[in-house]
Amino acid sequence: MFTLKKTDAYSASENLVIITKKDADLSSFPFTANELDYINKSFAEKQKLVQINQYSRQIFVQLLDTGKDHYLLKEDARQAANKLSELANKLKLAHLVLVDNLACDECMLAYAEGIALSSYQFLKYFKDKDDQANSLKEISILSKKVSDADCTELQNVSNAVFASRDLINEPLSYLTAVQLSKEIKGLGEIAGLHVEVFDKRKIEALKMGGLLAVNKGSIDPPTFTVIEWKPENAKNEKPVILVGKGVVYDSGGLSLKPTKDSMDYMKSDMSGAAGVIGAMYATAMNKLPIHVIALIPATDNRPDGNAYVPGDVVNMHNGMTVEVLNTDAEGRMLLADALSYAQKYDPELVIDMATLTGAAAVAVGKEAIVGMGKLDSDIFTQLKTAGEEVYERIVEFPLWDEYDEYIKSTIADVKNIGGRDAGAITAGKFLQRFTNYPWVHLDIAGSAFLHASSSYRGKGGIGVGVRLLHNFLKNY
Ligand code: BES
Ligand code: ZN
Ligand code: ZN
Repeated sequence: MFTLKKTDAYSASENLVIITKKDADLSSFPFTANELDYINKSFAEKQKLVQINQYSRQIFVQLLDTGKDHYLLKEDARQAANKLSELANKLKLAHLVLVDNLACDECMLAYAEGIALSSYQFLKYFKDKDDQANSLKEISILSKKVSDADCTELQNVSNAVFASRDLINEPLSYLTAVQLSKEIKGLGEIAGLHVEVFDKRKIEALKMGGLLAVNKGSIDPPTFTVIEWKPENAKNEKPVILVGKGVVYDSGGLSLKPTKDSMDYMKSDMSGAAGVIGAMYATAMNKLPIHVIALIPATDNRPDGNAYVPGDVVNMHNGMTVEVLNTDAEGRMLLADALSYAQKYDPELVIDMATLTGAAAVAVGKEAIVGMGKLDSDIFTQLKTAGEEVYERIVEFPLWDEYDEYIKSTIADVKNIGGRDAGAITAGKFLQRFTNYPWVHLDIAGSAFLHASSSYRGKGGIGVGVRLLHNFLKNY
């Protein structure tokens, strides 16, 4: 557990991080003339982080840039905070006071966020987890620009990101679809969310043929979880709906994954679900005044004697038929059922999030989310802005009519793959067939799970989408 809070003062024994800008006055801080000289000399040599070892405590002086777009300054602050975290853990420090010395307006919170998010570790399966655990457990923020409420909000969002990362990092040997629904129940109880889990019989009764088809090769049943946050002061009359792909493991099914080693991390194919779950948790913990419902269709995708096969025609929840030409294009099958189910709520807006296509990852790498939308409002702009604020940026791809041709089937209403071209878009076009409301599709295949550490994002499950959706809903 990592905690962050506000403070009004620091004592002589506390480790400090003084966050400052170029040429700011440092004379009010407890430095000797020699130390001040050293700090100024280091800054002149283009160093950004200077460590003063006062033996009874450490003082770090962190220089942050000015004169860029504010969202870039915030990202610089998070990244700098990650380097500081690494150093603090190396020095076995447990607590730091972050002291504002004229940092940019939002930089103190962003810096705190960078430290908080850097604190995450997934140690559950190690015997010596205590030895491996980071020393840094707490930060206090000393800044007029940061309120208690800001600290609580950031604490809740960080915890939501951690919950999301935990779910992604859990392997299938623990996190089956049923277990995922139990985890959602548990988080819902903490946050005050209403959670209802549909079992296989209910899913059959609802004729969710896409989810059931993918589940046919599994030894475990599917689940469909409905999460609701409906505060009395909700600003919206019709709900906003979030849909997350909950494929707890994707082997590809009988169209077994062709790419070497790609199955190694397919426990992360429920990252869309994890992002949505984290966003719901943060929304409820921060009591955002908005009515939101989340839908999480979940199963693993495996080859087996009874697995669905290429060539099958599947009857979907909305009555449409789908020709399956690749069982590895499974995410769209279960998302389609969830998107049709969403129609019954007459939603104001639906956003789905999914590790849907390798094509999206190839197109933008880990740097962005591929987004597509059918909207006549400025919602996409709002989402893009949220993306910049939290640095989970969105690149918009088109949903032009021409792409409908790519997924025309000769035997059914639609087929579940396009050709080699425009793979992320044809997946989006497939989903679009199951919507009849304002809708955004976010393909997070590139940024959901990383093999090498990427600053405060860490490695493994990133929890992408939690901060994005929370920020979007907060400003909705
Ligand atoms: N889960 C994968 C997409 C994916 C790939 C996520 C890489 C994360 C990293 C998805 O179910 C899939 O297999 N998509 C296929 C679709 C194709 C068969 C049309 C793909 O992208 O190759
Ligand atoms: Zn797949
Ligand atoms: Zn998948």
